[in-house]
Amino acid sequence: MLGKMTAPTKFQLADAPMSADRTAGFRFVSSFGEVFQAANGTWMLTSAEAVKFAVRHPEVFSSAEATNAGSGIPIPLIPVAVDPPAHRKYRLVLDSMFAPRVVNAMEDDLRTQARDLIAAFANKGECDVVGDLARLYPTQVFLTFFGMPLDDRDQLVGWVETMLDHSTTGTAEAGPEVVEAATGLFGYIQRFIDEKRERPGDDVLSRLLALEGDDAWSDEEMLGCCFLFTVAGLDTVTGAMGFLMRHLALNPELRRQLIADPTLLGPVIEETLRVEPPAPTISRTTTQDVEVCGVRIPAGSPVALCLGTANREPGHWEHPDDVDVAQADRGHMTFGGGIHRCLGSHLARRELRLVVEEFHKLIPEYEVAPGFDPVAVWPAGTLHLTSLPLVFPVGDGGA
Ligand code: HEM
Repeated sequence: MLGKMTAPTKFQLADAPMSADRTAGFRFVSSFGEVFQAANGTWMLTSAEAVKFAVRHPEVFSSAEATNAGSGIPIPLIPVAVDPPAHRKYRLVLDSMFAPRVVNAMEDDLRTQARDLIAAFANKGECDVVGDLARLYPTQVFLTFFGMPLDDRDQLVGWVETMLDHSTTGTAEAGPEVVEAATGLFGYIQRFIDEKRERPGDDVLSRLLALEGDDAWSDEEMLGCCFLFTVAGLDTVTGAMGFLMRHLALNPELRRQLIADPTLLGPVIEETLRVEPPAPTISRTTTQDVEVCGVRIPAGSPVALCLGTANREPGHWEHPDDVDVAQADRGHMTFGGGIHRCLGSHLARRELRLVVEEFHKLIPEYEVAPGFDPVAVWPAGTLHLTSLPLVFPVGDGGA
């Protein structure tokens, strides 16, 4: 007999008071236990031990089954919707395309793009850092990596947000605008697959198309992969950027320390990622009966791995609920773990760093617009702020 059997709880993730305060939200989740069944039947793994166990056993906790069942997208999202051993072939190719040395080579271009976006509002004395920067920049970075024109940014932002809004509301039927957005995005990507097959450039898409023989990818694999990048690598960065800028706006002393000692920026980014994980849970389906932390989970069960609670486990951090640069070397699970660990973590960290560095060059002093309460969208697949109005003095520190 595998572990003890437990009855479903009344827990619903949507009930977690996450919008105003993630500390209260994640405490609510943990209060039900380290392994328990939510009212809708999903098993929640909340402790670091339980989450790490699941990501280290991908043969038991299938990402393919969870993703293909829940995405509503007709093709596999490569590589998250692929289990081992097939998963390895994709990561071998993709890892090298998003390695730190590749990100380093792009840094000047990405920095200029960040600066241009910030310069557009630096003389206005106010901005919405989410709408004017955090929503736009990750899409520009995607377009740059995939060799697509930056002019298409707003169209792409519109399609992706329409699709993600739909997955957040959890309505089963996709309305016409969602179908239109998904069709538009698929058609857009397919057009570039065709174009780059004819006229390759120096970009991720062209490099994938150049794979030959047994290594070559089908059009469906290419589409599924590009599609995943748009749903995994855009609003996550938007969310992280919003939370990071919010934290800096609310903590002027930390901001001044950061300007005086730029080496603190890496630790501040890590700690903000830890306490404000844009993807608070990731999904799996069990392929067999399994015991986790003494509790039995039957085969075929949906499971949510709660990265947000694993990131704040008491005992591991001196101040689990606070951004504290002194504990930034203790790690976190915001980028997941195991074979599906985030492919874009180096790039995401670089995007955050470049944006803060360039922001502080042009706008060193700023605060949240008086009266504005920066609450997060919840329930949501990706935790994020929809808006973060900032005000700042307009001086001569600009361009
Ligand atoms: C702060 C920003 C980001 C966060 C918090 C984040 C978080 C995550 C997490 C938690 C996973 C694991 C999913 C799972 O195991 O089910 C993941 C996977 C992934 N992420 Fe990210 N991500 C971020 C940015 C990015 C960016 C910028 C890219 C694109 C370059 C990206 C591409 C991917 C891909 C392709 C996977 C699937 C990897 C695999 O299945 O092997 N992510 N991400």
